[in-house]
Amino acid sequence: MKLFVVISLFLVGCSALTTKQERRFPDDFLFGTATAAYQIEGGWNADDKGESIWDRMTHSNPTVIKDLSNGDITSDTYNNYKRDVEMMRELGLDAYRFSLSWSRILPNGLANKVSEAGVAFYNNYIDEMLKYGITPMVTLYHWDLPQKLQDLGGFMSPLFPEWYEDYARIVFELFGDRVKHWITFNEPREICYEGYDWISKAPQVNATGIGVYRCAKNLVMAHARAYHAYKNDFAPSQGGVCGITISVNWFGPKTDSEEDQFAAELKRQGEWGLFAEPIFSEDGGFPKELSEKVAQKSIEQGYPRSRMPEFTDDEKAFVKGSADFFGVNHYSSFLISATEDKEEYVVPSLYDDVDVGSYVPGDWPTAASSWLNKAPDSILNALTHLKNKYNSPVIYITENGWSTSPGDGLVDDDRISYYRASLESALDALDAGVNLKGYMAWSLMDNFEWMEGFTERFGLYHVDFEDPARTRTPRKSAFVYKQIIKTRVIDHEYEPSSMTMTIDEGH
Ligand SMILES: *[C@@H]1O[C@H](CO)[C@@H](O)[C@H](O)[C@H]1NC(C)=O
Repeated sequence: MKLFVVISLFLVGCSALTTKQERRFPDDFLFGTATAAYQIEGGWNADDKGESIWDRMTHSNPTVIKDLSNGDITSDTYNNYKRDVEMMRELGLDAYRFSLSWSRILPNGLANKVSEAGVAFYNNYIDEMLKYGITPMVTLYHWDLPQKLQDLGGFMSPLFPEWYEDYARIVFELFGDRVKHWITFNEPREICYEGYDWISKAPQVNATGIGVYRCAKNLVMAHARAYHAYKNDFAPSQGGVCGITISVNWFGPKTDSEEDQFAAELKRQGEWGLFAEPIFSEDGGFPKELSEKVAQKSIEQGYPRSRMPEFTDDEKAFVKGSADFFGVNHYSSFLISATEDKEEYVVPSLYDDVDVGSYVPGDWPTAASSWLNKAPDSILNALTHLKNKYNSPVIYITENGWSTSPGDGLVDDDRISYYRASLESALDALDAGVNLKGYMAWSLMDNFEWMEGFTERFGLYHVDFEDPARTRTPRKSAFVYKQIIKTRVIDHEYEPSSMTMTIDEGH
């Protein structure tokens, strides 16, 4: 009997070991971290940099930011970029995702003048990464529109796709010899809904029920123009890939009822289908059920036509398939109900058009950010849905991370637990056949968290914002992430032996 127990334990131990060894990330899987220009760079008016909509909003209306702060200096990457790259080496990153500030490169927004100083800064940053074998993954637009373009209407202007293509061509020409991974836009929903349909991001155009749809079409057309410019005129000699990053949180039905399943589908269409469907679906154009609903509501509300514009057949064909990969920013899950958990929505608005309720079970832990929760199978659910819906696109997780509060210190076990769960879910997605090629943790270091200022911290490295040198110090999570990258395995028992960071050989 005793012997039997010992043998069984031995067998269980072996099989656990085998499973663990099988659950490896592939060697060519790109592990990285992500940041965005306005959140880390500072140097807001260095040399001839032009004003962005975030400069304008935070300077003219400081009270919109929770702690009255702004991105004027923030992590001061403009002066600390070599330290940033040193941190990438400490972590042993394969790749680093960052964004370009449009008005640092084109101070007027338009393509008549290129800033030499701005270009030099990005050349230095990119070259420093390449010196140590770190693959740059570059986002062309992460929310900091040149104010001069906003003065002309910004994303509402029918000229927007043209301005954007001009900018993209300059960027491909300047950096495409060294940058092989391009992302046109970061999070269209946040650009269009939070910036032009509501007032939760710059430029705070409160055009509820109008702005998000108009912006969505201009953004998607701009994306497709940049994509085709790249594929036709740059990719043949430069040999890179170009995609788009969309925030894909998971919205599942609260119950199995048909009503809740349809409600969840409408919610997905309103949250990310507006941007994913025209690019990745077979049919092209805006999502069918939502566009029918908006058209009907618009007429009932007395508008002469739908508040949601249409794509012509030519436009559909132009946009369809215009991405080499689907960049996914994933953080949270929500359970969607057709009848429960609803709030009073402004009429007209995207939320009133979708008209469903959203629920987070009490036993899903919540981060310092109210919208960020830790749900079971979150990444697996989101990615298998994209795989099935859009014919197995190449996917990169371009953001995923956990926020803590400023006083929480360097021992961030909650963040570690979130990262481990996320990466287990990513392995589940790989096992399920998702074409997942990389994972970028948000974020390399603490930075300016938009309307929340410095009150929410996402960094693997802590940044001391009181210190003029903006000293960066690794949190415990940095050591855990480093170990995962090095071994390609998630060891839930791993504890760093000290909090002293070094650079491993070969980095
Ligand atoms: C935004 O517009 C809606 C009407 O569409 C209005 O109810 C709301 O109060 C406005 N918000 C602000 C902050 O002006």
